[in-house]
Amino acid sequence: MVNDIKKYLEELQSFEIKDEKQLDQFRLKYLSKKGLIQKLFLELKNVPNDKKRNLGQEINNLKILANEIYDSLKDKFSSKSVTHKYEDFSKPSQILKLGSRHPISIVKNKIIDIFQKIGFDISEGPEIEDDWHNFTALNLPEHHPARDMQDTFYINKDPDWLLRTHTSSVQIRHMENNKPPIRTISPGRVYRNEDISARSHCFFHQIEGLYIDKNVSFVDLKQTLLYFTKQLFGKNKIRLRPSYFPFTEPSAELDIYWGLDSETDYRITKGTGWLEILGCGMVDPSVLSNCGIDPKDYSGYAFGLGLERITMLLYQIDDIRTLYENDVRFLNQFSKSI
Ligand code: DAH
Repeated sequence: MVNDIKKYLEELQSFEIKDEKQLDQFRLKYLSKKGLIQKLFLELKNVPNDKKRNLGQEINNLKILANEIYDSLKDKFSSKSVTHKYEDFSKPSQILKLGSRHPISIVKNKIIDIFQKIGFDISEGPEIEDDWHNFTALNLPEHHPARDMQDTFYINKDPDWLLRTHTSSVQIRHMENNKPPIRTISPGRVYRNEDISARSHCFFHQIEGLYIDKNVSFVDLKQTLLYFTKQLFGKNKIRLRPSYFPFTEPSAELDIYWGLDSETDYRITKGTGWLEILGCGMVDPSVLSNCGIDPKDYSGYAFGLGLERITMLLYQIDDIRTLYENDVRFLNQFSKSI
């Protein structure tokens, strides 16, 4: 029996298989119910008990090898036969199911387009950040109470690596590496240590905007945001409410007048007709100095918006989690929005 196993092992490796027919001969000879390998298994009954285990193992290895040879060639020959079937080139092709862009990407691209038209370029930064770019350079020194506004995922405390909590960190990197005039938007993913619910998630996406030049004023900020809201939402009534961010002075929150035409409008605007869209302000002079830009010569504005919020608003999505579940029934609905 040992000799048989050895013999078959050599034979099946040099078995000539050039087409489907020979492959079938191979299968019949070794792998079929009446084939040689099955025969070996049957003979195993007559082997003394102390040798059964080892021999059984060897026959099994033989079977695995024969199956591997068979499977690898089966695909090769069957794929050939498939192409034969489609040789009639006059037949219409099979309909390809096209994918769709993710709604977050659709909205991100729209916003990028809007700002590129008025001269903004795109910049990016790392998602794993250090304390300086995410906090300190943005006027948020250690122990500053405003750090509580953002629950941070720390990777390491010393040295301080963290998952960036906002794309404002890209402002800093961009100003450190570029001289004014600067006009850039920075889309990216950010992370916060928050409970997951219909309204919040532990990661989401933001777009940051930054404009630094000589004599940039609050008027430029307001006019740019008005242009943006007209383009994205088709709304032309905005208001800027005073707010606080450590990296801008003065700071504001931009609301758009959404209207009160339907019950949904009442619900999403809490009966006011107004919707909060983004945070913004004039870049604090000390943030400019932190990045090597002299605030005596330059000034600028910045803004930051959450993409999920705007996407949910535009497509009337109620639950943020549906954006990350990748359910094709949900995603297919956006195939016409590209
Ligand atoms: N970084 C802020 C946040 O995550 C958003 C923001 C507000 C960005 C005002 C800005 C800004 O650039 O000027 O909540």
